[in-house]
Amino acid sequence: MAEDLTIVSGQKSEQYESLIPQIKGLLEGEANLIANMGNVAAALKEQFGWLWVGFYLVKGDELVLGPFQGPVACTRIKKGRGVCGSCWSQGKTLIVPDVEKFPGHIACSSLSKSEIVIPLYKNSELIGVLDVDSFELNKFDHTDQKYLEQIVGLIQF
Ligand code: SME
Repeated sequence: MAEDLTIVSGQKSEQYESLIPQIKGLLEGEANLIANMGNVAAALKEQFGWLWVGFYLVKGDELVLGPFQGPVACTRIKKGRGVCGSCWSQGKTLIVPDVEKFPGHIACSSLSKSEIVIPLYKNSELIGVLDVDSFELNKFDHTDQKYLEQIVGLIQF
């Protein structure tokens, strides 16, 4: 496996379409979850240049910080708290165009302006979330939701 990522410009969907086979290549033949989450976070950050991309995993009644790319972040989030904890309690993807307008948003970085959080399922159980933060307002839409849900579906949890 080549470890270099090919970065493309263009439409958001074209960027995801280029990235997905490369992510499949990175995950192929590797069963270690930490390694795979690390490479998925890195590949997304490298292609899109977002502020922060990373995983939180359920441990008891909290989400605990997992592999990520970006500035240091809060390590534990209670169920129902912030965007991540709300994604957990609602069990669905949340798109937040302006984090300041999301009640209870947890500001790990003052640079974060918009956010998308994708639930991670193993069988039918929610076992974590993928969190993505942008420097820009209104960065994420249903195209991101569709492709990010597809990407987390590639990871064997
Ligand atoms: N903003 C998130 C917290 C995690 S950081 O953005 C990395 C939230 O409100 O849950």
